[in-house]
Formats: sequence, C-alpha cells, structure tokens
Amino acid sequence: MFIKAMEEKEIAPGGMKAVSLNGRSIVLCNHGGTFYAVERACGHARAALERGALTGWILTCPLHYAQFDIRSGEALSGPAPKSPESGHPDPASPALATAGLKTWPVRLEAGAVLVDMQ
Ligand code: FES
Repeated sequence: MFIKAMEEKEIAPGGMKAVSLNGRSIVLCNHGGTFYAVERACGHARAALERGALTGWILTCPLHYAQFDIRSGEALSGPAPKSPESGHPDPASPALATAGLKTWPVRLEAGAVLVDMQ
C-alpha cells in the first residue's frame, strides 16, 4: 500500500531527505525529478545516509564512503581503506561486510511522494 511520505517540492533535484514511515527509517532521493526510497542506515555500520552525497544514482555514505545504487540498493563498493599515513584505528573495519540497502517503490501523485511500504 502506497503511503504519502512528503510533498514533491520538499526535495530539490539531487537532494535527499530522511523520513519515518510505518516504523521504518528511509531516505527519499530526488534524481532529476524521479524519486527513490532506500533504507536510511548504511549497510556497513549504519551511518545516516541522508548526510552523505548523492551523485546521479550513486549515494555515498558520509562515514566511510561506501557507495550504493539508489535504484536497486546494491552496494557498489565497501568502506574506503585506511590511510597508510594514519596512526588512528581503522574505523572502516574490514570485519564488517557492506550489505545492500532495502528499497521501496515510489510514485508521484498530485505533487505528493508516495512510498509502497509493503
Ligand atoms: S557506515 Fe557507511 S561506509 Fe561505514
């Protein structure tokens, strides 16, 4: 069942916004007027993905820079490797695999963004 998430005008093209629907935290992404809904928590260590960067269909995590395709949720790359110059512990633990993101169908209706949360 499609549920109204927000007004279309709330996210400019290239933008993202986190919302909560049916108890799930999701991020809505506007790619040139087409909207996509993906899970909010990064598939690596659960960073909030709306704080990342959206370039075309690629969503980059703000924490360790894993990348996801917002159309499918597929994890395109894992966290960035530790800099050899860094003396700090590696925050992007290789022990943590990077899972893909759940996605939901989205449609627009009378200026509203609707998400199918089934
Ligand atoms: S939390 Fe997203 S790449 Fe680590």
